[in-house]
Amino acid sequence: MSYFKVIFVAYNFMETNNQQLEEELQGSALMRPSKVPNGKKLFLESYGCQMNFSDSEIVASILIDKGYSTTQNFEEADLILVNTCAIRDNAENRVRQRLQDYKKIKKNNPDALIGVLGCMAERLKAQFLEQEKLVDIVVGPDAYRDLPNLIATAETGQKAINVILSKEETYADIAPLRLDKNGVSAFVSIMRGCDNMCSFCVVPFTRGRERSRDPESIVKECREAFDAGYREVTLLGQNVDSYLWSGGGLKKETLTAEQRANSTNFAQLMEKVALVSPDLRVRFSTSHPKDMTNDVLEVMAKYENICNNIHLPVQSGSSAVLEKMNRGYTREWYLDRIKAIRTIMPDCGISTDVITGFCGETEEQHQETLSLMSEVVYDFAFMFSYSERPKTLAERKYADDVPEETKKRRLSEVVDLQRKHSELQTRKWVGKVTKVLIEGVSKKSNEMLMGRNSQNAVVVFPKGDLKPGMYVNVLIDSSTSSTLIGSVLN
Ligand code: SAH
Ligand code: SF4
Ligand code: F3S
Repeated sequence: MSYFKVIFVAYNFMETNNQQLEEELQGSALMRPSKVPNGKKLFLESYGCQMNFSDSEIVASILIDKGYSTTQNFEEADLILVNTCAIRDNAENRVRQRLQDYKKIKKNNPDALIGVLGCMAERLKAQFLEQEKLVDIVVGPDAYRDLPNLIATAETGQKAINVILSKEETYADIAPLRLDKNGVSAFVSIMRGCDNMCSFCVVPFTRGRERSRDPESIVKECREAFDAGYREVTLLGQNVDSYLWSGGGLKKETLTAEQRANSTNFAQLMEKVALVSPDLRVRFSTSHPKDMTNDVLEVMAKYENICNNIHLPVQSGSSAVLEKMNRGYTREWYLDRIKAIRTIMPDCGISTDVITGFCGETEEQHQETLSLMSEVVYDFAFMFSYSERPKTLAERKYADDVPEETKKRRLSEVVDLQRKHSELQTRKWVGKVTKVLIEGVSKKSNEMLMGRNSQNAVVVFPKGDLKPGMYVNVLIDSSTSSTLIGSVLN
């Protein structure tokens, strides 16, 4: 039997330079047999969020089953696929730049095909083929099953496109080809799409309606990951708190009280996943403050293997801005949710997303964001300046009137404050012992390993005879704003 090595998926979470994620997500290696090799090589690159990364694993699975092997070097590829993000303008610019690099390939190999997948493909649709002449295939996030047909069409010299969004597709039956590098932590999509319509956000347009995936298929995928040696799963959705499975074909909006009572909600799903094994850590992303219930917090507190970490994007500390953002909560509501987290799980790690310079944001409203951050003291944050997206409610309704330099200055104030808070939060661990799941070698030294604790803090310690996938107790000796440094206790 021949095995093909899946070597490379570049992963660029939210196009930030997040050290933690980079440490975790550079490259990949996993073996799986290709059924009947077709002699062709695939180069697959992913931008954007974890959902995109998870989708790339579905795409890789579909194409390996069609006989492709994969390559790390796009110059030797027969097929280049780039899974794109449309969340901010600079995410799209990055992809356009990358396409310039790919152009070279057609010189060496005139038959090579270039395909664009994901959110930018969905947003631009056929325009992509007009704007970027070298692109042969455009595929939206719900059309990956159609990729083999689209490739076949493109091989005849025609352009191929499928950007149809689905109300049902969850790829539940496709076993993803794991593309992470460490073989320890796996992403598992539990739902797709988003029904929220935050006014700044392009996701509802690129990913379509919200739909939940059959819990049995989720649990099965988690169990298979555990059996393959994975020790952590991250359950993914744009708004995991609104997960609801009521049997195939039933729609959330039309459920009777009885059907609702017989449904599986997010708290129940997480419990099922936690029961796969006490040695399988469970994480999830992303929670929405308007929907996060105490049920979820209580299940988290009940199971040691559900990590005490919540990513709860706030976006702004001003109720007036939140209303314009159509987020569905106020500052007070958000702070009440933080209080609930800290009451039910006093040592829970909390992270967030912040946008600076949203339409009409005043200096006072910006100060409210800073003061909210100081009330919460987040462990970590992704921080962005507002980027207007075509077709969104904000684009249609509000002027993007905060000058670019003001947006950037506010962003740097938010970033500076968060750095101080991260430092305070990591320093709290010094002198304490924390349980760490080992993920791999530290980026800074081959003699050191890295892993994370339940709260998602990155922990670095000497290698010894330890291996990725093991749990160890680490005594923390020192810290930086992003890392805990310590030694393993026997
Ligand atoms: N579903 C998640 C977030 C998905 S997008 C949630 O609701 O929290 C990830 C983050 O990108 C958002 O939380 C937001 O902070 C940021 N973002 C989204 N649209 C943006 C825009 N137009 N400009 C700047 N940042 C944006
Ligand atoms: Fe976008 Fe809001 Fe949906 Fe998150 S919840 S994906 S920010 S619309
Ligand atoms: Fe980007 Fe699409 Fe994710 S727009 S952030 S890749 S859902």
